[in-house]
Amino acid sequence: MGRSYGKPPGRRLTEAVRIERSSPWTWSANPRSTVYGETLRKAKDGEWRRWDPRRSKVSSGLLRTTAAPERLLPAPGSHVLYLGAGHGTTVSHIHDIVCHDQAQGRVVAVDLSPRCLRDLTRLAQARPGLVPVLGDARRHESWRMWLPQGASWVFQDVAQAHQASIFTAACERFLLPGGRGMLSLKVESDRGTDAAALRVKVEEELAAAELVLDEVIDLEGFEDDHLLFVVGRPEDA
Ligand SMILES: C[S@@+](CC[C@H](N)C(=O)[O-])C[C@H]1O[C@@H](n2cnc3c(N)ncnc32)[C@H](O)[C@@H]1O
Repeated sequence: MGRSYGKPPGRRLTEAVRIERSSPWTWSANPRSTVYGETLRKAKDGEWRRWDPRRSKVSSGLLRTTAAPERLLPAPGSHVLYLGAGHGTTVSHIHDIVCHDQAQGRVVAVDLSPRCLRDLTRLAQARPGLVPVLGDARRHESWRMWLPQGASWVFQDVAQAHQASIFTAACERFLLPGGRGMLSLKVESDRGTDAAALRVKVEEELAAAELVLDEVIDLEGFEDDHLLFVVGRPEDA
């Protein structure tokens, strides 16, 4: 872990997020602790955490997008769904954002792996509003009770077969009108289909679910063989 003092990093994206050429940063909702050994930058009344783009597809997406990066982020106080939470690397930064400045946001973080759940549960003890769920992204019954009003931001990073249909099913059920969804697609996870054909197939599935495709971000260099599909649910959906 590195810790330094000084002026805030880069330029402001939102109250809770700043961005430099090499990395975004989030304002910590749990100061004086690191989640994965990330660098901390001390400020007068709190702390910035470096959001490593090599460890997080949302972070690398912020650096790679060709449009305004802030549109990829959830709002403070919002309820969000995160499928494939892993050990909580990205989840912790999303929690910084939705629970910024005591906002009553919620991150429902779902993962199949008991080992991941152990780490997520430890993280949640220090981060109110983070809800770890041991569950399958395909089986909504075990976690739908945590999102009674739906979610305004849905992110999926499960790296398994049929990623697009798992994502569209979750968005159809939980993503609110006007909400934003992001699907991290590991190209080799859908065997038997080449990358270009897979992309077309995914775009068709998104359209069939009435999700409007905003951008496809190639994460090559940060995460090889990964595409980030950014979609919106229309206000009148
Ligand atoms: C690439 S890792 C996630 C990394 C994480 N998103 C991050 O940025 O730190 C993929 C995760 O998806 C989980 N996973 C795979 N299939 C799943 C499913 N059907 N439901 C829930 N989680 C799943 C795995 O256990 C693994 O932790």
